[in-house]
Amino acid sequence: MNQITRRSALTLAAALTIPALVPAPLRAQGTYPNKPITIIVPFAAGGPTDVVTRLVAEIMSRDLGQPVVVENVGGAGGTLGAQRVAQARPDGYTLLLHHIGMGTTPSLYRRLAYDAVNGFETVGLVTEVPMTIIAKKDFPANNLAEMIQVLRERKQNVNLANAGVGAASHICGLLLQSAVQTQLTTVPYRGTGPAMTDLISGTVDIMCDQTTNTTQQINSGAVKAFAVTTATRNAALPNLPTAAEAGLPGFEVSVWHGLYAPKGTDSAILNRLSRALQVALRDERLMARFAELGTAPVSQEQATPDYHRRYWQADVAKWRPIIQAAGQYAD
Ligand code: MLT
Repeated sequence: MNQITRRSALTLAAALTIPALVPAPLRAQGTYPNKPITIIVPFAAGGPTDVVTRLVAEIMSRDLGQPVVVENVGGAGGTLGAQRVAQARPDGYTLLLHHIGMGTTPSLYRRLAYDAVNGFETVGLVTEVPMTIIAKKDFPANNLAEMIQVLRERKQNVNLANAGVGAASHICGLLLQSAVQTQLTTVPYRGTGPAMTDLISGTVDIMCDQTTNTTQQINSGAVKAFAVTTATRNAALPNLPTAAEAGLPGFEVSVWHGLYAPKGTDSAILNRLSRALQVALRDERLMARFAELGTAPVSQEQATPDYHRRYWQADVAKWRPIIQAAGQYAD
């Protein structure tokens, strides 16, 4: 990304001296943003990452005084959209809202066309979302114990939908197969939005997905739910047992989300975006909608570049030995 070695001596001198007349942070603050911002969601429209991003983007847009457009670039477990942002100009106009996949991808994918660890700047964490184990509504089980029985009997005749390798639904599905000690047939989608459509119509059998995509479908009876994957029950789904209550002790997984910019983005821009993110996360309408969807915004301190970077780096370090030990790679 750094082309400075290729510049002529004259250009280099100009690059070093002229901008020094106006400190970089002030230049960035004074003019940014002056055109629409795009947030890339690395999954299909209508899914959980998309839902969270659109809620946040609307309020950030009001605070920033510019449209914040959401673009879905799904596929390959979120790596296609992430690549687009890693390779975008670091000018604050192309951002990425991605989830726990930012922690798992560096270990799951050994060959990528972008740097999954050093290709991004952090803006702030957004939310952490519980997952649910769900099935098509005529799946022949009425609780988690019965579901496990069916999975063990039917094995690869059961279709497990996910959003590709590295997606949260993929990781949760792996944990489920390992806990149940069976191998199912996985069906990858560009996101769990379209996977949910197929689950509702009965084209696929089961899925593990975030409450931001499943709460309404569970409460309306469009799908069957067997467990929530957190230590405690979820207020939006009070009748749904935890996996531990329903017979899978220790089965816990939740999905953190964060906002990123390409590597090299000016810190003044990152801080401006972080302030807009914080405004969004303390908005009462957003908090109410998040609560209906079974989640909550992170604290204001967590929605900062520093906190987010430390959290992300710790998550990359946490997953590396787990994925290496499992030997489950995407490539
Ligand atoms: C996932 O499984 O990672 C998500 O559900 C992806 C999405 O937002 O569709």
